Amino acid sequence: MTTVIDGKAAAASVIEAVTSAATTLETSGHRKPGLAVVIVGDDPASHAYVGAKSRMAKQCGFNSIQHTLPEDTSQADLMTLVASLNADPQVDGILVQLPLPKHLDSDPVIQSILPEKDVDGLHIVNAGKLATGDLKTGLLSCTPAGAMILVRQIHGNDLSGLNALVIGRSNLFGKPMAQLLLNANATVTIGHSRSRDLPELARQADILVAAVGRAEMVKADWLKPGATVIDVGINRVAAPEKGEGKFKLVGDVAFAECKPVAKAISPVPGGVGPMTIAMLMANTVIAAHRRAG
Ligand code: GUN
Repeated sequence: MTTVIDGKAAAASVIEAVTSAATTLETSGHRKPGLAVVIVGDDPASHAYVGAKSRMAKQCGFNSIQHTLPEDTSQADLMTLVASLNADPQVDGILVQLPLPKHLDSDPVIQSILPEKDVDGLHIVNAGKLATGDLKTGLLSCTPAGAMILVRQIHGNDLSGLNALVIGRSNLFGKPMAQLLLNANATVTIGHSRSRDLPELARQADILVAAVGRAEMVKADWLKPGATVIDVGINRVAAPEKGEGKFKLVGDVAFAECKPVAKAISPVPGGVGPMTIAMLMANTVIAAHRRAG
């Protein structure tokens, strides 16, 4: 029987631990953890994600501060806001929702966040700590850290002898995911759009992690029988069966056909997605604890 990995349940247990850590901080005389989320422009999907992050922060007992800036915000104004959040003693974590509108350059914005407040784990200091094997003193990128918890549910902490394939090489996910798997002793391959034969690479993987943003690209005949499949894709596709003009969310993996071949598989929705927000909350409470000394 294939295990369908329950990301909602895993996220709920992270949130429970975070909420209790936040309460401990407050009752020990410190203030609530503070999370500042910055969103620029009107992208509906980004607003939905940011709304969910702000609501979860409140549910965890945090001080949740949302800054909504207009689409035509200048680079200088955005950098000034980040500088003021860096200097604000009430703020433990800063997240600038990506992607930014086209006229803005995200890299200088992300790199201007203080590494100790970079709860997205995207600052070069945090990325560098992960790349050099320091998983303790920095902040880890949320989606890979969440995906890794799901991998550990199936395989435990030590992935020695297992082949892992990460499809996707972004700084936000693919690269940090590969680093985490490597750190757990997996033999790691990163596949991407220029790889010669992705299906063949996939057939060697005991752990396959898909993050390409292409609906149901990974097919059943790509899988090694008994593989663990972690689906990081969130794709909106037409769902005429739900009515005209309706949409549904699907992953990068063709779930129905892959499920019988896999040993374990994460669904979309309800797999990695809830873990991303949970790990953002975990990073915020970690940052607050460190700042409290
Ligand atoms: N946009 C999509 N995913 C993310 C994320 O994890 N962090 C940020 N800042 N923006 C995103």
